[in-house]
Amino acid sequence: MTKTAIYPGSFDPITNGHLSLISRALQIFDEVLVAVAINYQKTPLFTLEERVDMIKKSVESMKNVRVDSFTGLLVDYVEKNNSNVILKGLRALSDFEYEFQMAIMNRRLDRNVQSIFLMTDYRWFYISSTIIKEAASLGGSIDGLVPPYVCQKLKEKFGYA
Ligand code: PNS
Repeated sequence: MTKTAIYPGSFDPITNGHLSLISRALQIFDEVLVAVAINYQKTPLFTLEERVDMIKKSVESMKNVRVDSFTGLLVDYVEKNNSNVILKGLRALSDFEYEFQMAIMNRRLDRNVQSIFLMTDYRWFYISSTIIKEAASLGGSIDGLVPPYVCQKLKEKFGYA
């Protein structure tokens, strides 16, 4: 049976930190399903289609990675995809409280679903989509933090291309 890990997030946009996590998860799981959240409480910089497109381009060379989007409860989406694993990355201390809260709530909602955390590789410990967007919006270099395609999309979005 294929063991699939569901990797949920906003991915606004996908970063090299996310990609590192996906490739490391593939050493443990047969397949990673990247699930882009449609969250009506957040106003993302990129549309859902743009975020999915950037992820698809970024994982082109990786085997056993699928990209999809979801709305509603994550645990329901996990079950619907015949999985019981939520994969998340943990960066510096600041992530812990939020992720802990989410994991406890998800466990309360569905005890069959397990949250698995991988420590973010040290190179990406202090980067986030948010900080990358801020630098890019002000014309700062973000080379090496996101795949070249995403870098180009950010430049276009902020009128630097
Ligand atoms: O990249 P993010 O924004 O930290 O991702 C957060 C995400 C999408 C994983 C989280 O908001 C989520 O799981 N949303 C779906 C709704 C849900 O099931 N929430 C948790 C229980 S209330």
